[in-house]
Amino acid sequence: MPLAIDMIRSEHRTMAKLLDLLERQIDLFEKTGEPDYDLLGEIVDYFRSFPDLYHHPKEDLIFAYLSKRAPDAVAEFGDLEAEHEKVNARLNRFARAVVNVLMQVEVPREAFVRLAREFILGERKHMQAEETLFFPLALEKLDEADWAEIDARIARFKDPLLETQAPHRYAALQEQLTHWRGEPAPAARPQEATGG
Ligand SMILES: [Fe+2]
Repeated sequence: MPLAIDMIRSEHRTMAKLLDLLERQIDLFEKTGEPDYDLLGEIVDYFRSFPDLYHHPKEDLIFAYLSKRAPDAVAEFGDLEAEHEKVNARLNRFARAVVNVLMQVEVPREAFVRLAREFILGERKHMQAEETLFFPLALEKLDEADWAEIDARIARFKDPLLETQAPHRYAALQEQLTHWRGEPAPAARPQEATGG
């Protein structure tokens, strides 16, 4: 399995866990109006910082290779870069609403919950489309030389600063992930067992 796909899938698993955590906080907010504000803030900060800068570009790179190798097949999948722009726009709307909630600016509870659920659903659908359509297509159409180039490019791309800062920056998130009791998705298990 190419390193790039391993990394991206592992990032998807992290994001899926964060979406589950977020969903619990939104349920709590809906019922009580009192979510864990630290955790909510960190989850949104993570989504603002990580996917668009460090995750989507890896997928866009694979998409660029695929567009060259199999233009017809890729046309059927759709424009991934445009899709990532939409994902980011949805995130920005949600992030602004969270900031307002954190500042306790009057945000109608229903409107906030709706935005949050739209964001969660949109992220899940987006990742699912990549997992079920895009990655299999890329694995089928790209050859070993393509993957070697992609892996080499992505290896340069890792951001050590973010990695070393993450434990301090996302203390509440780290705590939640360390004590994570959610069931991993069935497809994710074998890979995690072998160390991804
Ligand atoms: Fe993705």
